Amino acid sequence: MISLKDLSFRYRGADRNALSGINLEIPDGAFLGIIGPSGAGKSTLTYVLNGVVPHHYGGDFYGRALVNGLDTVEAGTERIAGELGSVFQDIDGQMVAAVVEDEILFGLENFRVPRDEIEDRLAAALEAAGIGDLRRRTLSSLSGGQKQKAAIAAIIALRPRIIVLDEATGELDPASSRQVFLFLRELNRQFGITIIAVEQKIMLLCEFARELAVMDRGELVLHGTVAEVLQRPERLEEAGVNIPRVTTLGKALREGGLYGGALPHNLGEARRMMETVVPECRNAAF
Ligand SMILES: Nc1ncnc2c1ncn2[C@@H]1O[C@H](COP(=O)(O)OP(=O)(O)OP(=O)(O)O)[C@@H](O)[C@H]1O
Ligand SMILES: [Mg+2]
Repeated sequence: MISLKDLSFRYRGADRNALSGINLEIPDGAFLGIIGPSGAGKSTLTYVLNGVVPHHYGGDFYGRALVNGLDTVEAGTERIAGELGSVFQDIDGQMVAAVVEDEILFGLENFRVPRDEIEDRLAAALEAAGIGDLRRRTLSSLSGGQKQKAAIAAIIALRPRIIVLDEATGELDPASSRQVFLFLRELNRQFGITIIAVEQKIMLLCEFARELAVMDRGELVLHGTVAEVLQRPERLEEAGVNIPRVTTLGKALREGGLYGGALPHNLGEARRMMETVVPECRNAAF
């Protein structure tokens, strides 16, 4: 469980807060998507969770951040890493080894995992990420999607209860992006791992996340289930977040007085909406 209370942060020398008055509780087993325009403070929020702020990037830190009961200011990054694993926006900067298995071993050895457990954990992490066949490949020979999976495998080998990903699909095509999120869903459903994903592609979050947090200029401006947040399209647009086309359609139908229900955020709901607007849609195949 993560609890942020009245959290504000200003980088040293900056003339405005990167985070302002954030209050957010993330329960165990959540699948939270974080979205917002560039400079909104999304990466900074992930730095607070993993302790990079204020341990590596100093500044004025106000309020409290608790990760599974650990105060991130007091605990230090190594201790926090035992609870929460991070995949950073700059993935190449995060990788330290030349070969996939060495990348995973590095973390396990660093965490002083007993020798007789290491091979099992390594194999299980590769298997879970679906990259058992890439074990001895060099990282530089992998595609963007494969590299992403190797980074995630290195994190899950450490068995954190929480995984935070900062724009994990930034470099990926739509099919590989979905693959990464399908895998995250599996980790979330099968092992109850909390997933916190900063992501620009709102349709991915609408499909896979259960909750959405919208950030704008350092503030948390909307937070709720995906369905709840999508009921506020004006606020999303004001924050510079593109809303899904199905939601735009719902909004237009509502403004035209043709529809009075909840705004849809995926195709299944769009279909239900269209059935109420045009009953003939019931039999249409779309
Ligand atoms: N190391 C740093 N030192 C000083 N200011 C920083 C630093 N990192 C980020 N900032 C500033 O903090 C604010 C929030 O930046 P942050 O990187 O958290 O935004 P973001 O939402 O992740 O943006 P993006 O979508 O571009 O990744 C911005 O004004 C940014 O310029
Ligand atoms: Mg960022």
